[in-house]
Amino acid sequence: MSFPNGFLWGASTAPHQIEGNNLNSDFWANEGRMPGMERSGDACDSYHRYREDMRLLADNGFNSYRFGIEWARIEPVPGEFSRAELGHYRLMIETALELGLKAVVTLHHFTNPAWFAAEGGWAAPPAIDRFRAYVETATSILDGVEWVVTMNEPNMLAMMTGLALKMQQATEAGVEWQSPTVDDGPRPPLPAPEPEIGKRFVEAHHAVRDLVRERTGAKVGWSVANRAFEARPGCEAKMQELQYIWEDLYLEGSKGDDFVGVQSYSAQWVGEDGIEPYPPHPDNTLVGTAFRPDAIGIAVRHTHEVTGLPILITENGIATSDDTRRIAYTEGALQALHAAVNDGVDLRGYLHWSLLDNYEWGHWAPTFGLVQVDRTTFVRTPKPSLAWLGGIARANGAEIA
Ligand code: FCB
Repeated sequence: MSFPNGFLWGASTAPHQIEGNNLNSDFWANEGRMPGMERSGDACDSYHRYREDMRLLADNGFNSYRFGIEWARIEPVPGEFSRAELGHYRLMIETALELGLKAVVTLHHFTNPAWFAAEGGWAAPPAIDRFRAYVETATSILDGVEWVVTMNEPNMLAMMTGLALKMQQATEAGVEWQSPTVDDGPRPPLPAPEPEIGKRFVEAHHAVRDLVRERTGAKVGWSVANRAFEARPGCEAKMQELQYIWEDLYLEGSKGDDFVGVQSYSAQWVGEDGIEPYPPHPDNTLVGTAFRPDAIGIAVRHTHEVTGLPILITENGIATSDDTRRIAYTEGALQALHAAVNDGVDLRGYLHWSLLDNYEWGHWAPTFGLVQVDRTTFVRTPKPSLAWLGGIARANGAEIA
């Protein structure tokens, strides 16, 4: 099983999930407001330990690293850009390059500056101009970066933005907020993203795309959470309807981009009543999703069909405390990807989610990392999966029975 020349092999992270103390972000301000939600705190202290993190990748055979730059740090108050924070991210990029890692840089990964949220967030009139101004400044530090992801999972962000609005309305009306997720029993389907919010993200993406191209020469795209839907017999039309709301709106928004990032974790059935919950199963992951290594194959094929663009796997992984399951999952995912390449999908790389066990948006229990992190001492302990995947990276493939 060999992969195309120049294939990127790496792992992905997001600033808020690993850096720690993202004090000026809206997510930081919201942590602790939802029942059962944990705080990010110092996270993995990667803000200070990024060199060590990158070395783990480089020393184990990987050739790339996806990380984000944090808008809330770079522009802590509207129009005031921190030179020191820009310098910090410039140093990160230089460190990656020095270690032989291609930098895949995300400009927006779920979090916004707190002032941006207070101004009304993505629904407010100045949103796009605000984002453009941030990106314009950020492009000044991206020299040498070949891949830029403007926004991470705009479809999930649209869903989250819709939920936040509902939560706010409930608070204003004095009604107790009912979280749509539960910890046991079949995990109910997530509420669908509002297409109106989604269209705003498409607009935001288009507003910065040419800016990034002109000023950096990097390939530019965004990364979409692919749901890998499968239709029950007779439910194909229902699936297509949901596919549009959940992902095709965003995949179509990537037309004209240089690549599209595919992110996939599990697959889900669509029946007459819509998306079916994941039934309880001993193989289910720590976030309640079904163990479906083949999902990434469904995801890239669908993305290829809709966009025809070169594809970078910007996230794929599993929340498990059993690293042998992580290896089994990833092996299955790579087999599915290899088959898709043989069928003509233009695949440029595989970035595993995630390098580190990190802050999973309110929870520390779901561990997605190739590396375990002690949250008191910040000591990093690689799991066997790190060297295993690094070996495949070195060989640009593997012999798989
Ligand atoms: C994706 C997010 C990423 C991480 C993984 C598990 O939706 O982009 O930050 O939370 O899921």
